[in-house]
Amino acid sequence: MFALVETFGCQQNVNDSQRIEGMLLEMGYALTDDREKADVIIFNTCAIRENAHTRVFGNLGALKHLKAKKPSLIIGICGCMAQQEHIAKRIKSKYRHVGLIFGTHALWKFPSLLLDAIEQNERVIDISENENIAEGLPVNYDGGARAFVSVMYGCNNFCSYCIVPYVRGRERSRLEEDILEEISSLAKTGVKEVMLLGQNVNSYGKDRGEKDAFALLLKKVCQIDGIERIRFMSSHPKDISEKLLQTMAEEEKICNQLHLPLQSGSSKVLLDMNRHYDRERYLSIVKKAKELMPDICLTTDIIVGFPTETEEDFEDTLSILREVEYDSLFSFIYSPRVGTKAAEWENASSEEEIDARFKRLLDLQNTISYKKNLRHEGKIEKVLVSGKSKTDSEMLSGRNYANKIVNFRGDESLTGKIIDVEITKAQTWILYGELV
Ligand code: 5AD
Ligand code: SF4
Repeated sequence: MFALVETFGCQQNVNDSQRIEGMLLEMGYALTDDREKADVIIFNTCAIRENAHTRVFGNLGALKHLKAKKPSLIIGICGCMAQQEHIAKRIKSKYRHVGLIFGTHALWKFPSLLLDAIEQNERVIDISENENIAEGLPVNYDGGARAFVSVMYGCNNFCSYCIVPYVRGRERSRLEEDILEEISSLAKTGVKEVMLLGQNVNSYGKDRGEKDAFALLLKKVCQIDGIERIRFMSSHPKDISEKLLQTMAEEEKICNQLHLPLQSGSSKVLLDMNRHYDRERYLSIVKKAKELMPDICLTTDIIVGFPTETEEDFEDTLSILREVEYDSLFSFIYSPRVGTKAAEWENASSEEEIDARFKRLLDLQNTISYKKNLRHEGKIEKVLVSGKSKTDSEMLSGRNYANKIVNFRGDESLTGKIIDVEITKAQTWILYGELV
């Protein structure tokens, strides 16, 4: 029997899908990439923007003929989209070939939900809420040298545009010992780099009344033999602590790379977004980070076209880009989400204006990214080799401390190793180098 899990969305979802795959393997399924071959197909979905929904609905529609050909096929949908009642309703009425719908809180119940779906001749739906953390679920890590490890779930911030707190519930931190045990066992399988995940890792431990717990956790992860690199995301600027920045600077194994979502450079828009920091506070964090780590690689998230964003506010965003000089950024056009506060607001700008702003943002950032990449030229950097390059089979590909892709010539046996590469050429999105 074959099963296929398709992931839409963020690293958290990738990690959740690895758990679903882990459970499927324990149930006796083999994994496949082939929809035609699969007996179970699960879509793990994202709700963050409307285009994420559209993609999933399109893909679900395309599965209809498979179900007609093989009536025993179980098609399931889970994750952030499935957790929303209006979506579950729509799937129930319009996508009758979908036999299993479960939300983010029911992940641990997956084996029994799947069995119910196989045995019963009717739909199984579980989008109930549950604020527990299920430990000990099997995880199907991909065997590579890099792994994602969730340290907490949920979000308490209720940024006015964001659906995440509604679909992932309140912040819950995993126990330190569970996280350390998972990372230690990953290290034994050859994992060298871990990315610690949470919607806001700076809140780690706050649900238990702990202070600075994330910085302390990082220090302990640094002690694990075999783990050579540690990254984390995301950090909410409102509660990033100096202690965390100092820990990053002090600890060799923590990469000098920070993803610090800005969203907007205008203090007025930030207030409307309910972000709890203003332009000045954000810039003071960046200043501190640069003082402590002069080689720091900074990345960010920007939303263009938030309902109250005017041309002047957008100019404020561009000016922060020029001042901070991010290495790269993730930019999104604002997408109203049902149930969030901002979804009730009229948009001050037209679609054309927003599209033009988006383009200006990308153009400016491309120039900055190229300039920042040039700083690596001539340097010898440690690269964790991920394997053959996806774009050029003659080349190997890996990541430097900044998480930038470095392509170079070398033997495939270097995969999974950390090696020295001299950076010889920078482009906007990629670095090229030579083995030292
Ligand atoms: N529209 C556009 N972008 C959004 N994000 C979150 N919600 C929305 C939305 N409604 C972006 C934010 C966040 C990133 C993960 O997705 O920039 O940091
Ligand atoms: Fe969404 Fe804000 Fe929470 Fe990030 S911090 S997940 S943007 S509500």
